[in-house]
Amino acid sequence: MSERTPNLFTPFRLGPYELRNRVVMAPMTRSRAGEGGVPTPLMAEYYTQRAGAGLIVSEGSQVSPQGVGYPGTPGIHTDAQVAGWRRVTDAVHAKGGRIFLQLWHVGRVSHPSLQPGGALPVAPSAIGAPGELYTGQGMKPFVTPRALETDEIAGIVEQYAEGARRAYVAGFDGVELHGANGYLIDQFLRDGTNHRTDRYGGSVENRARFLEEVTAAVVDVWGGERVGVRISPMGLVNGMSDTDPVATFGYAAYALNRFNLAYLHVSETIGEQERRSADGSFVVLGRAGAEPRVSPVLKAIFRGPFIANGGYDGQTGNAAIADRQADLVAFGVPFLANPDLPERLRADAPLNTPDRATFYGGDEHGYTDYPVLQTAGAA
Ligand code: PHB
Repeated sequence: MSERTPNLFTPFRLGPYELRNRVVMAPMTRSRAGEGGVPTPLMAEYYTQRAGAGLIVSEGSQVSPQGVGYPGTPGIHTDAQVAGWRRVTDAVHAKGGRIFLQLWHVGRVSHPSLQPGGALPVAPSAIGAPGELYTGQGMKPFVTPRALETDEIAGIVEQYAEGARRAYVAGFDGVELHGANGYLIDQFLRDGTNHRTDRYGGSVENRARFLEEVTAAVVDVWGGERVGVRISPMGLVNGMSDTDPVATFGYAAYALNRFNLAYLHVSETIGEQERRSADGSFVVLGRAGAEPRVSPVLKAIFRGPFIANGGYDGQTGNAAIADRQADLVAFGVPFLANPDLPERLRADAPLNTPDRATFYGGDEHGYTDYPVLQTAGAA
């Protein structure tokens, strides 16, 4: 008997969970958290509208006051943040959804004006990101971060472990480590940002050590089957580069095998990659990604469930799953603009147009007011 060819709408067993489909909502920073990085009722509404996803991965949530890089991002290091997230997870669960929290430390992608005591942001090496960032007091050039001392790194790992414990209290179904897009874990992984000469720098084994230590600490809290890791091997945002991405990320995928993780999530932007500016405009950084994608190499190395992300639509998403290039497919911007994305993909229905001016910050406009299928076009 041959098994039915799977597609985006085939249920999937992810660790202890039976996901209703393979359409994952990708983590997306929306910068609408309240005072003190506390998730709001509006955020609960936003996620609940999207609970039809097989799995939601929350926007990145800083694991400590030091881990913050933008105004308006939620955290997972205070009791008030935990209580705010609890509203989100309860509401998503009431709709039968599943939601993982993304654990985030930005490393060098920050500024003294965002840091406790006006301190320098920390990073593997004292190498500043190029360009400017939005601080809430206008645009500021990135500063040169402070390189972490070897004996400080265990404390940073502990910040992730504490975030993982708080995510448990907040009612999440699991956690995803943000190892992508030029933030702290990615800064350790890639040789453009990691010039260390201790056991955390140099060889790919050494550059992957921080990722492995954080993964081990978080797996200690949750068990491997409820922990995912997200990477972006070819991504350019935040001034990232590596001399041999296939070797670097191939090794990382291999090293993660021993944790029996819930999944590896590979974000591959194919084509132009942009970063946002303060005024809501976007600056093109260059052409990211490789064609063909590098994810097949990583999929072949990694022995657990594989989430592909970046530029997929219903047709290419179904094909990726049918061809076993991915087990699940994560959608970012299409999910932002279409709360009922799985239903629309299944019906091959037209999609709402995303409004980039309202991606980051602001109120319910461009956040919870995208219409679902029945009402689309009815206004
Ligand atoms: C952003 O806020 O611009 C941002 C945040 C997290 C990412 C990528 C971009 O992973």
